[in-house]
Amino acid sequence: MGLSSICLFTIFIRLVFPFFFFNFTIANFTASSMPPLCHDDERSALLQFKENRISGDFYAWKFDCHPTMASWKPEEGNVDCCSWDGVHCNKNTGHVIKLDLSHSCLFGSINSSSSLFKLVHLEWLNLALNDFNSSEIPPEIINLSRLSYLNLSGTSLSGQIPSEILKLSNLVSLDLSLNDVPGGRLELQKPSFVNLVEKLSNLKTLDLGDVSIRSMIPHNIANLSSSMIIFLRNCELQGRIPSSLGNLSKLLHLDLSLNELQGELPVSVGNLHSLAELDLSANFLSSEWPISIGNLSSLKELDLSQNRFFGELPISMGNLGSLKELDLSQNGYVGPFPVPPPGTIHYLASNNNLTGEIPSWICNLNILESLVLSHNNLSGLLPQCLGNFSDELSVLDLQGNNFFGTVPNTFIKESRLGVIDLSHNLFQGRIPRSLINCSKLEFLGLGDNQISDTFPSWLGTLPNLNVLILRSNIFYGIIKEPRTDCGFSKLRIIDLSNNRFTGTLPSKSFLCWNAMKIVNTSELRYLQDVLSPYGQTSNDILSTYDYSMTMNSKGRMMTYNKIPDILAGIILSNNSFDGAIPASIANLKGLQVLNLQSNNLLVELTFLEFFNVSDNHLTGLIPQGKHFATFDNASFDGNSGLCGRPLSKGCESNETPANEDHTEGSEESLFSGASDWKIILIGYAGGLVAGLVLGFNFSTGIIGWILEKLGTQQKATRRRRRRRN
Ligand SMILES: *[C@@H]1O[C@H](CO)[C@@H](O)[C@H](O)[C@H]1NC(C)=O
Ligand SMILES: *[C@@H]1O[C@H](CO)[C@@H](O)[C@H](O)[C@H]1NC(C)=O
Ligand SMILES: *[C@@H]1O[C@H](CO)[C@@H](O)[C@H](O)[C@H]1NC(C)=O
Ligand SMILES: *[C@@H]1O[C@H](CO)[C@@H](O)[C@H](O)[C@H]1NC(C)=O
Ligand SMILES: *[C@@H]1O[C@H](CO)[C@@H](O)[C@H](O)[C@H]1NC(C)=O
Ligand SMILES: *[C@@H]1O[C@H](CO)[C@@H](O)[C@H](O)[C@H]1NC(C)=O
Ligand SMILES: *[C@@H]1O[C@H](CO)[C@@H](O)[C@H](O)[C@H]1NC(C)=O
Ligand SMILES: *[C@@H]1O[C@H](CO)[C@@H](O)[C@H](O)[C@H]1NC(C)=O
Repeated sequence: MGLSSICLFTIFIRLVFPFFFFNFTIANFTASSMPPLCHDDERSALLQFKENRISGDFYAWKFDCHPTMASWKPEEGNVDCCSWDGVHCNKNTGHVIKLDLSHSCLFGSINSSSSLFKLVHLEWLNLALNDFNSSEIPPEIINLSRLSYLNLSGTSLSGQIPSEILKLSNLVSLDLSLNDVPGGRLELQKPSFVNLVEKLSNLKTLDLGDVSIRSMIPHNIANLSSSMIIFLRNCELQGRIPSSLGNLSKLLHLDLSLNELQGELPVSVGNLHSLAELDLSANFLSSEWPISIGNLSSLKELDLSQNRFFGELPISMGNLGSLKELDLSQNGYVGPFPVPPPGTIHYLASNNNLTGEIPSWICNLNILESLVLSHNNLSGLLPQCLGNFSDELSVLDLQGNNFFGTVPNTFIKESRLGVIDLSHNLFQGRIPRSLINCSKLEFLGLGDNQISDTFPSWLGTLPNLNVLILRSNIFYGIIKEPRTDCGFSKLRIIDLSNNRFTGTLPSKSFLCWNAMKIVNTSELRYLQDVLSPYGQTSNDILSTYDYSMTMNSKGRMMTYNKIPDILAGIILSNNSFDGAIPASIANLKGLQVLNLQSNNLLVELTFLEFFNVSDNHLTGLIPQGKHFATFDNASFDGNSGLCGRPLSKGCESNETPANEDHTEGSEESLFSGASDWKIILIGYAGGLVAGLVLGFNFSTGIIGWILEKLGTQQKATRRRRRRRN
């Protein structure tokens, strides 16, 4: 889905396009030697507009905006409003013709008496990215009849768009998008979309994204014959796409995503010879591959994802030779894997029912950056070139298919791969050693295959590895402690569950996993470098790629469509680890999920320095190990449903465990030798609170426990030793 890419593109259009128009306009003015000062009435209108707006440091800080109006001060030497920030005048007449207050930290309601509407000479008005506090657009907008450019996007406006806007017959560019706030959204029913198209037929740019239109796309859309850009994303548009759309021969960018459009794509779409970007994602369109798409020879970005398209894809996709980004995800496509043009950069076709192999001609796509074919029915061996055919490849996601054989061992030093997800296939053999070359790798998913290998300690040198998923394979042997260099310092999720690992838990390794010690995770982002390598400016389809992960947590399989940035977890369940739980785990203060279920470990909660579960509405029996008895009654306050020692409140008989005397043995043991238990630490908003869930296999099921803090073992053991002596 290229939704956010559209947003970013929209912002680009908003910020850059206007200057073309404007520069064109001012070029027509003859420069005179002494431009007149601005008109008094316009100066006071500007100042009055400023006065009624809150614009200050707070907003600048919160929204990273620029308080443009701060410099508007009618002091001596500064009375010429034509020289104020964001204000531009006609050099001959001195009238204010352009006002650019976009992203200027404006906050406050706007109404009919706003002095803005006194600036009747305005030709160009940009108020985008401010906050007008759910106001409606006042009908006095009609006063600004000379406007050719109007941008009110992202300004928290709501209510019906007034019919007066339709009378601004000089408009060439209209942007009312992104006014979709909890207080309401802009609506276009009275007047209707039909009326707008009828009246504003000179528009070159129309962006009504997020405006509630709630109608069909009208046949008279053809009236917008000058249009180059039409964005109607998330407008509650319904029904079929009219064939008159094909008359918009100047169209460069068309976004109809996130609506309720049905049926087929009209054949006439093939007439849109200039079209460079077509986004039809997240609708209910259904048909076989529309042949007319093959006629769009200028198309660079095609997003058909999340529809009901079906049938086989054409093995040659017509004249789509310019195509750079293709997203066919989440449809009902079947049959073989189609050939994208050699210049393709992003190729996404996940969640279809494609069959067959990945052919070796894929090796020709030497500037491909992402290949996402997850959740299809593809099979066969992977072409050996997969690790080295493109220096640009950063996402390789083939999870959820039937690929078999070994994983290619051709990963090269130059590799940019940040995500490799091959999980849920039938791969065998070892982890390819050339992965050590992938220094940018952040996510490695090899879970649910038949890979047979020892623990890949050698991956510890990958400087960016955040996520390592090896679950449900045939990994075996002990996890060796690091000899000299600490590895895996960026690791935040490791899932080794359902394998054949043996030996003690690697207590020294835990000390190396520095990223799991971080409690304040607000700065941490999974896959930031991969998905937006240039910060916020990335505007390709991939910026909304949903990387997913399944892991065994809270006793069941959790599937995350996107890994929550706060998540840090160690999942070691269903192996044959033995020994005690090393206290070094307590250093991993950012840890939120720890699952050690079904091993042969001894439960020694010696690392618990401080225990406080108050006010958590917990119910059931407090575990009767001596360790818990040492905690104060007050630690359990505010949990009216709890019972058992150390509280005076006893439990109902059906809550009494059958194996009550399970605490023999080591003093700190809760259930010595018990194999069916798990500890799960759950993060809370505050970041400091972690939770502990002890699983019981008797009637009351699971009792939840919340720990305020995991302390260091050193202190706790020292204290206990003292007590013992
Ligand atoms: C319009 O808003 C201004 C402040 O922005 C307020 O003083 C005035 O009373 C409002 N007028 C109406 C008619 O609501
Ligand atoms: C914003 O709107 C609310 C509700 O209409 C109103 O109470 C408040 O005064 C407005 N704030 C500003 C700064 O206009
Ligand atoms: C607008 O569309 C209508 C219906 O399609 C058509 O009759 C009319 O000529 C068009 N007007 C313009 C100015 O294109
Ligand atoms: C599409 O291209 C084919 C030839 O490749 C041509 O026969 C057909 O008329 C074209 N259709 C449109 C709508 O342009
Ligand atoms: C997957 O493809 C195989 C043939 O390769 C076919 O037998 C099987 O039915 C397909 N599975 C699904 C769920 O379509
Ligand atoms: C990829 O690696 C294989 C095997 O090492 C080699 O034969 C091939 O030439 C390489 N391809 C590229 C494009 O480097
Ligand atoms: C790493 O890549 C280089 C080529 O860039 C290759 O020669 C080398 O064999 C690779 N390393 C491993 C361990 O495969
Ligand atoms: C437990 O935490 C609560 C809330 O933070 C606090 O009021 C209470 O005093 C604490 N109890 C103990 C025993 O520290």
